[in-house]
Amino acid sequence: MSLKSQIHSTYLPQHIAIIMDGNGRWAKQKGMVRAFGHENGTKSVRDTVEAAAELGVKNLTLYAFSTENWKRPKLEVQTLMKLLVSSLKKEISTLQENNIKLSAIGNLNALPKKVYQELIEVIDKTESNTRMTLTLALSYGSREELLNTVKEISIKVKNNIISADSIDESTINKHLYTQNLPDVDLLIRTSGEHRISNFLLWQIAYAELYFINILWPDFTRENLYEAIIDYQKRERRFGKTSEQLK
Ligand code: FPP
Repeated sequence: MSLKSQIHSTYLPQHIAIIMDGNGRWAKQKGMVRAFGHENGTKSVRDTVEAAAELGVKNLTLYAFSTENWKRPKLEVQTLMKLLVSSLKKEISTLQENNIKLSAIGNLNALPKKVYQELIEVIDKTESNTRMTLTLALSYGSREELLNTVKEISIKVKNNIISADSIDESTINKHLYTQNLPDVDLLIRTSGEHRISNFLLWQIAYAELYFINILWPDFTRENLYEAIIDYQKRERRFGKTSEQLK
């Protein structure tokens, strides 16, 4: 029985988020520069996006560049930015053919102008696509996102647009970058590290966590299937007891 056929289409995670980790180590193992790892990482991005869309996953969010990644050597940051532009240019037709909408979360104003323009162009062109939303987290940091949220809500309270008493979880959801996305159901991190690294801290409150000891450029659609099969075997209790769920 193939892995794909073991997946129940009625119980798919509605939102999968992935921390794509291990490009650098993958390159090092091969005696190559880190950029080689990132380039090969784009193949895994392509495979994963295609596989998720084919399965019927509605939302896929990829951690492509964190606020902390700006601290990397200048050359590596430039390589990643160039890769982003070339991938966006290359993949626009695939996104269109597969009816996939591109979106982005993060401090997008911090991106180089060329990356920002290319990104917005693809976001605009794919705006009406409905099969799956692919969200790239770029210059993204969850603490920064939460800080901005607190600031925006405070200003609204100060200006009497909303009252402090009326603030609830939905108020916060509406002010996050992810305001149009459901909570994360399944969070995958590659490379064997067991960390969240400032990714979607609010949105993963009830996510199932899946850590896999494979470096991102080696991650295939079969690995995605395995993660979903594992997810489908878990009992998600959301604080209730097993008996209450029956
Ligand atoms: C983590 O590996 C990977 C990144 C910081 C960047 C991810 C980027 C890509 C997969 C390529 C471009 C992306 C898109 C969406 C087209 P690492 O460098 O932290 O690896 P290490 O932990 O082994 O050093």
